[in-house]
Amino acid sequence: MKPIKVGLLGIGTVGAGTFAVLKRNQEEIRRRAGRGIEIAIVADLNTDRAKEITGGTVEVVSDANLVVSRPDIDIVIELIGGYGIARELVMKAIANGKHVVTANKALLATHGTEIFLAAQDKGVMVAFEAAVAGGIPIIKALREGLTANHIQWVAGIINGTTNFILSEMRDKGLDFATVLKEAQRLGYAEADPTFDIEGIDAAHKATIMSAIAFGTPVQFDKAYVEGITNLHATDIRYAEQLGYRIKLLGITKRTSQGIELRVHPTLIPMSRLIANVEGAMNAVLVQGDAVGPTLYYGKGAGAEPTASAVIADLVDITRLTGADHTHRVPYLAFQPGAITDTPILPMSEITTSYYLRLRVADKLGVLANVTKILADASISIDAMMQKEPDEGETQTDIILLTHQTQEKNVDSAIAAIESLSTVDGKVTRIRLEHLA
Ligand code: NDP
Ligand code: HSE
Repeated sequence: MKPIKVGLLGIGTVGAGTFAVLKRNQEEIRRRAGRGIEIAIVADLNTDRAKEITGGTVEVVSDANLVVSRPDIDIVIELIGGYGIARELVMKAIANGKHVVTANKALLATHGTEIFLAAQDKGVMVAFEAAVAGGIPIIKALREGLTANHIQWVAGIINGTTNFILSEMRDKGLDFATVLKEAQRLGYAEADPTFDIEGIDAAHKATIMSAIAFGTPVQFDKAYVEGITNLHATDIRYAEQLGYRIKLLGITKRTSQGIELRVHPTLIPMSRLIANVEGAMNAVLVQGDAVGPTLYYGKGAGAEPTASAVIADLVDITRLTGADHTHRVPYLAFQPGAITDTPILPMSEITTSYYLRLRVADKLGVLANVTKILADASISIDAMMQKEPDEGETQTDIILLTHQTQEKNVDSAIAAIESLSTVDGKVTRIRLEHLA
């Protein structure tokens, strides 16, 4: 059988990894796919670098439009990134009847609905295993392996850059800027690292997982997003003393009122496996009603780990090219007509536990006032730690861990606590998940 022909858009970190792995493992991949998979044309703005990577074995062009319109191309791989030109090219490829593979979570989280609709119309596949957690086959697991389950929640360390930063800062005492530069050098960070450190990249991925887990449209605009830039080393230390690690988690939960979809720094008990995921590694924990918890761990970024997922999609598509479109796995795991519009809850309505740090005057009655405010807001305290004031200091830190409560209760309690004359400055609030 003739090889399936692929056009590659963008041969940067992931594109180069895809080219290399496809070449190195071509025989093994052919045995699995049932026919060869051949990159016939590559488009990249930097054609000299592209020619160097491909070693003159394939046609290289600078205009990506030539790839998406070429009649002999069956599959287009989009590895440019962003939602500008990438969106245009993906839509053109679909309109021209090409199957699409992309690692572009930003594109899918924001324009997924439009892309899947167009692809459904044309009867082509859009595969995106690499868009969430790099090399970990979490899309496959959620969409196919766990298909019997009523999924209750998904929680994951889904941004390698921020996990790398948090691990290096904690273990080596390095500063934020130094570690971020290293993450960029290693190819983990996005072209714009703000997406990583502000939690946007993780929210793109959480949005995609949420849609697949619960059969809802992709709705990035409804996600709560908080990154790690306001996280203090002090809180990382106090959390450790209390038996917790702080990770940037992407969380999505199904509740009777709607769906929680949020990304923020989170305390996790150190005894949980996921709390011990370090460096650029990713891990996703999925709770299904039948299977219970399952944990998926691996490299979430980097050239070849991501290429591993891109090529898995190429093989899936190659195997299914001749299949009736209605017999293929639906884009979002649920049949297009069965996607439901379950609301995404505003942050004030979510339920979780909290770590609160207060800077207080070391005076009689301060703690009593604080605990009264919490009790009045129906917030129950799970644990408390008060530091002895440093030599010559008249203020000290109080750290409180709460039981589960609604975010709006904590909002009002924090406002009341901050208005106490014995409390200095803002209360630090970090959410806490037991992931039990
Ligand atoms: P890179 O920036 O390394 O690569 C993108 C490539 O596309 C560059 O070579 C760039 O050329 C080229 N390019 C830009 N615009 C065009 C255009 N108009 N036509 C043709 N080529 C163009 O990005 P990555 O490989 O890191 O990421 C690619 C995608 O994969 C992104 O969506 C990213 O989010 C996703 N991803 C990345 C992971 C990673 O570990 N890096 C992991 C998982 C997903 P030039 O450099 O000249 O601008
Ligand atoms: N910038 C992303 C990360 C790449 O650090 O996880 C993988 O999606």
